[in-house]
Amino acid sequence: MEVMEVLLFKEVSKDYASANATALKEVSFSVKQGEFTALAGPSGSGKSTILNLAAGLDIPSQGKVILLDKDLTSMDGNALTILRRNSVGFVFQSYNLFPVLTALENVEYQLALKGVSQNKRRRLAEAALEEVGMKGFGKRFPAQLSGGQQQRVAIARAIVSDPKIVFADEPTANLDSTTAEKLLLLFRTLNETKKITFLFSSHDPMVLRIADRILEICDGRIKADTLRQKQPTEAPLPNPVVRLPMVLPPQRRAA
Ligand SMILES: Nc1ncnc2c1ncn2[C@@H]1O[C@H](COP(=O)(O)OP(=O)(O)OP(=O)(O)O)[C@@H](O)[C@H]1O
Ligand SMILES: [Mg+2]
Repeated sequence: MEVMEVLLFKEVSKDYASANATALKEVSFSVKQGEFTALAGPSGSGKSTILNLAAGLDIPSQGKVILLDKDLTSMDGNALTILRRNSVGFVFQSYNLFPVLTALENVEYQLALKGVSQNKRRRLAEAALEEVGMKGFGKRFPAQLSGGQQQRVAIARAIVSDPKIVFADEPTANLDSTTAEKLLLLFRTLNETKKITFLFSSHDPMVLRIADRILEICDGRIKADTLRQKQPTEAPLPNPVVRLPMVLPPQRRAA
């Protein structure tokens, strides 16, 4: 059986008129279901531009972006929002968690947007936190978590609604190398166990060891597309080794 393509770029160009800059030049590639692909390339080469276009967060100047058989370039904003909400997860470099919501509430919020009932929301969000090794941290606020822990909450939020594909823009950039490697292995495990397709960008040579396909971007073009043999997960899932005493969040609501 032929493996389905989940993402297709057809001669996509992106100009930023304001800066008189061309970020992408007729870029074409496709991503198949289940692939674990890294976008590599120097700063300014166009990695974030590709991820933003792929997730429908931006529109190309020319060419087509097809995500899950839908042509993003011809969809209206509403349809795009629904597609993103139901099928796409996005992890940002800077986590983007709501500071006034707890870890659990941050994950639940994603489901609230979809209209999932409160009980089900809580159950699914707790399961997602457990999946990323953050069981027991649900009541903490982002400021009470380390960078790696915040990023794991952001990943839980990205996977809680069972997306087909997760885009991640430099998800390990703010982390030390040990935490970064654990996170990449977590992506890998989710890729294998939940069959989620991953496309992520990184500067880090370590990704070369973990990704099974590397798209090298240079100056707005794909310079190389290298397939590697699918790598089995090399290490067990990270677990929070040290459990700090629970810091109680400030009281925010009247009982
Ligand atoms: N909003 C914008 N307005 C004008 N130019 C932009 C804008 N966003 C990106 N660019 C330009 O487009 C090019 C590609 O940028 P992009 O952010 O995709 O690079 P990148 O590979 O993600 O870099 P980095 O590794 O530093 O994150 C760069 O030359 C950048 O200056
Ligand atoms: Mg970038």
